[in-house]
Amino acid sequence: MKSELYDKLGAKQGVNKIAHHFYVNFLKDDLLRPFFENIDLKQQERKMNAFLTYAFGGNSLYTGKTLRRAHTSLVEDQGLSALHFDAMIACMTMTLKEEGTSEDLIKEVIAILEYQRNNILGT
Ligand code: HEM
Repeated sequence: MKSELYDKLGAKQGVNKIAHHFYVNFLKDDLLRPFFENIDLKQQERKMNAFLTYAFGGNSLYTGKTLRRAHTSLVEDQGLSALHFDAMIACMTMTLKEEGTSEDLIKEVIAILEYQRNNILGT
């Protein structure tokens, strides 16, 4: 169950740590970083944290933009594609490995993010 996933990842403290570490890692990636050049990074980190908290079952309310709407202009104007989505998934996998998360939990997290693939890419 989703709420169990949130707890297994260490609840608020654990998920905040994962969200921060993820964001540090994706900014190091040459393929991903250019998309964030004109973005308020502090705010982006907060938004990602809010979404992950919601997606992992820690909060039943998500008040951010839908992921479709948040990424439409990136797809249409900046060429956001499956290549970038794959890099984001690889980045989350690496982040969780560095955090010492078990393989089973990593699979659960990646399945949740994969569920958003078509939504984010508009495919
Ligand atoms: C697992 C995949 C992804 C998730 C869960 C995710 C999540 C989010 C969230 C929650 C937001 C903020 C929405 C809001 O404004 O309320 C956002 C915005 C954004 N995302 Fe993603 N994202 C993903 C993939 C990507 C990829 C692959 C890229 C580019 C390489 C990307 C680039 C951006 C950028 C640049 C923004 C800021 C848009 C703006 O403020 O105009 N995202 N994303």
